[in-house]
Amino acid sequence: MLKATFHLKTFGCQMNVYDSSRIVELLNSFGMKEVVDEANADVIVLNTCYIREKASAKIFSELGRLYKLYDVAGKRQPVFAVLGCVAKAEGENIFRRAPYVSIVLSSQKYHLLPELIANAIHDVELVSKEKEEERKAKKEIKKKYKLSHTMNTELSGLEKFDCLPQSTKSDKVAFVQVQEGCDNFCTYCVVPNTRGREVSRSEESILAEIDNLQRLGAVEVNLLGQNVDCYNGIGEDGKPSSLAHLIKNVAKFDNIKRIRYTTSYPSKFSDEMIELHRVEPKLMPLVYLPIQAGSNEVLHKMNRKYTREQYLEIIQKLKDANPNIQISSDFIVGFPNETEEDFEKTLDIVRRVKFIQCYAFKYSPRPNTVAAKMEGQIDNKVKADRLRRLQSELRKSQDEFNKSCVGRVMSVLFSDVSKTNPKYIIGKNEYLQPVIVPADASIIGTICDVEIESASYANLRGKLV
Ligand code: 5AD
Ligand code: SF4
Repeated sequence: MLKATFHLKTFGCQMNVYDSSRIVELLNSFGMKEVVDEANADVIVLNTCYIREKASAKIFSELGRLYKLYDVAGKRQPVFAVLGCVAKAEGENIFRRAPYVSIVLSSQKYHLLPELIANAIHDVELVSKEKEEERKAKKEIKKKYKLSHTMNTELSGLEKFDCLPQSTKSDKVAFVQVQEGCDNFCTYCVVPNTRGREVSRSEESILAEIDNLQRLGAVEVNLLGQNVDCYNGIGEDGKPSSLAHLIKNVAKFDNIKRIRYTTSYPSKFSDEMIELHRVEPKLMPLVYLPIQAGSNEVLHKMNRKYTREQYLEIIQKLKDANPNIQISSDFIVGFPNETEEDFEKTLDIVRRVKFIQCYAFKYSPRPNTVAAKMEGQIDNKVKADRLRRLQSELRKSQDEFNKSCVGRVMSVLFSDVSKTNPKYIIGKNEYLQPVIVPADASIIGTICDVEIESASYANLRGKLV
């Protein structure tokens, strides 16, 4: 066992949140305890994001800040571990910029973390008085893994799944990674570099994980993949499966009442999935389908392999199959050479689709991407202005949808007591909108019908029916 405490901080997307939950379980299984106090841990783990410049700059300022907490006379230095996308992209550069970091590990390899921590702890003689225990811990770890100590050996993104312990507890909403990596090569994006090529887990492995989670109390499952529509893991017949096929099998678990999947790629969205939205009641009617931009020229330069017309057609088909369906999306403004006219086409798409929740970003040039080298980079002031205008348009459509919910009965999975008034309980409805009702805490963890009585931009309020 590794008698040490760790403090873990997560940045970035849902995938990183999922990875972090598995990392906690992994370190726990080696006897390490998670602590909330960031100033008193034996190991500091940062699971990082590289998607935009701001995100990756934050990691270095965070490292500097944390280092200072320990840079006090007589205080023991922790082991600093940098995981995830910054680790993959910046590699050894991290050791140069922050020399006190001793572990840099990409997300494909976080299963190697206990071994590396054991070594690093040994180096700083944290467990010097417990040689015997440490020796045993190392033996145990070595038994478990065939180790590669170097950062640069390429592993398939799936290898880690064979090395992770089974979860021993689950939230009501469980996230399960079904696929790793991305092969789309959008010209702005670092993910193909940081997360590697696209690979799908087998259905067997995913269903075993969900089976375990539903026994531990999960009622909602969110299947995660960078390109989840391209899921093609091996099915029970030994042939490549599909997302729709996988979801049909997930729906067979009685305890699982709600199914979501994230993130979709428009031109890969299959007719089989559209059909499933017609017939499968467990499939939630919110589709997260990032369009990024509304102009075909910009989409082409982004190497997004669809047009605005095709995008609108998919949405029409989805709504024809199931009129309850609503769409959420991501947008990038100020991509190289984006003209005012191009940008207005993005605003036009927002007015047509009436997205209900979106993320909008200023384009951020990233190292080793095609778009970063393009001429025609847009001035930050122009980007900021377009972002503001887009966000105001998005706000209008979200507001409008929230208001349209008043008077409807919606199903809500309750999760928390309100922080401001303990007589109120908060949950999420089919569309992931926060819903607040006066109720007893005993409804937490259950799905109940709620009649919506009022709506603001941020949430809905109602009563149990
Ligand atoms: N600049 C700005 N936004 C980006 N995204 C991805 N790469 C960049 C970039 N270089 C956005 C996209 C994607 C979301 C996860 O982040 O909108 O869907
Ligand atoms: Fe960030 Fe993308 Fe990596 Fe997620 S996959 S952590 S969003 S760079």
